[in-house]
This record gives sequence, structure tokens and C-alpha cells, in this order.
Amino acid sequence: MTKEKPDYGLDAPGVVRGFLIGGPALIVSGWFLIPLAPFGLGHALFFAGIALFIEAFLMMGSSYYGKFRARDRLLNQLDLRGDESILDVGCGHGLLLIAAAKRLPEGRAVGIDLWSQVDQGSNSKEATLTNARIEGVTQRVEVHGGDMRKMPFPDSTFDVAVANLAIHNVPTREGRREAIAEIARVLKSGGRTALMDFKKTGQYARDLKDFGVADIRVSRPIFWIFPPVRIVTGRKPARPA
Ligand SMILES: C[S@@+](CC[C@H](N)C(=O)[O-])C[C@H]1O[C@@H](n2cnc3c(N)ncnc32)[C@H](O)[C@@H]1O
Repeated sequence: MTKEKPDYGLDAPGVVRGFLIGGPALIVSGWFLIPLAPFGLGHALFFAGIALFIEAFLMMGSSYYGKFRARDRLLNQLDLRGDESILDVGCGHGLLLIAAAKRLPEGRAVGIDLWSQVDQGSNSKEATLTNARIEGVTQRVEVHGGDMRKMPFPDSTFDVAVANLAIHNVPTREGRREAIAEIARVLKSGGRTALMDFKKTGQYARDLKDFGVADIRVSRPIFWIFPPVRIVTGRKPARPA
């Protein structure tokens, strides 16, 4: 019998598909235009096509290999005790959620997502719960459907809040700020956050500061994911005794 394998999904499937189709189309049209078109248009199309094709493979490499390395880097730096409650914002198929649950024999891992098919292929609550079952952590995992801008959790619920490639999907500046406000709200005093993304990380850092999170750091770029990501970390100050 073949062993069931978890599937953590292809990120931005539409973009990858577009690059895989658009890349060769540009290469072929550029190739034919090189002798005909003036001002190097053929060369420009040809090399743009090659660039898109390479980007598609780098993005697939991230989804099927690199993001697991980046995930471990984020979780390693949290140095979990094993009894924390952790929230994965925009958990998708459960990349951070399930790996965190494995490190929490006495804790619990909670995910929230609205299961966008644009942001991750074959995205669903069922797919995430199936991965949790295959990875043997069903008992410690909880998954909620919902929007990160208005999370269905009381104030001060979680010891740790994490996110990977999720917050940038909120299309407006104000919406992303609401998501950061929610993360700060649901963290316990003394709770920590680690948000990994390929853009807007400076914005997350500023917004976290505005919402009272301290010790904020933005990592150097991490090249396991394409485009490269940074991790924003911070801690909600403990309430004075
Ligand atoms: C690129 S996927 C990353 C998923 C997962 N974190 C991972 O690393 O594999 C982005 C995820 O963010 C979710 N998402 C986008 N906007 C959201 C929102 N406003 N609230 C909750 N989840 C959202 C999408 O449904 C998707 O699952």
C-alpha cells in the first residue's frame, strides 16, 4: 500500500500558469520577430519570455521544496516550549500550522483562512484537515473559516501568531493594517509574532509598532522562497504586575 502524502499546495497557481504559458509564447514570438522587428523588440520579447519561464520554475520550486525550509527557519527561531497556543493566519493547506502542531505536544495550533483558490491551488478546510490527519496531529489542530481582518477569537488568546505569504493577499493598505491590528489584539501579553512575506514587511513592522508590539525585527531576505521573503518578529509587552 502506498503511504498517503500531505499536499501543501501550489502558491499563486494562476501566476505560475500564466508564466508557464506566457513565457514560451513570448520566446517563440520574439524568435520570429528578431529578424523582422526594429529596435530590438524581438530580443526583448525573447528574453522576457525566458525570464517568465524561469520565474515559473522558481515559484514551483518554492511551493514544492523551498517553503518547507523557510517554514523550519521561522519555527526554529520561535524556540517553542511545547505547550503554547499558536495561530496561523491565512494557514492555507497548513504549512506552518501542522509543523507547529508537531512541536506542541502539550499545546494547540489554530488556523484561520478564507480558502482563496487564487492564492493557493485546491485550497479548502478539508484539505488542511486531511494534511493534519496524515501528519498525525489532528487532536492538536483546529481550523476556522474567516477573514484575518476580523478574526473570531477573543482578545489575548494566543501565545504565538504566525503567517506565511498570507497578509499581502489583502488588497488594500487599510485591510492589511486591520489584519495586523487583529494579530496584536489576539496575542496574549508577552506573546510573540513571526510574519513571513515577500512584500509589505516594512509596513507590517510599522503597523505592529503602532499597535503596541515591541522588539520588532525584520530579517534579511531568505532565498528559499521566490520571490525572497523576510520574517518580521515582535513581542507584545507583558502587562506590568
Ligand atoms: C499563498 S497562500 C499561503 C498559505 C499558507 N500560509 C502557506 O504558507 O502555504 C495565502 C493564503 O492566505 C489566505 N488569505 C488571503 N486573504 C485572506 C484573508 N483576508 N483572511 C484569511 N485568509 C486569507 C488564502 O486563502 C491563502 O490560503
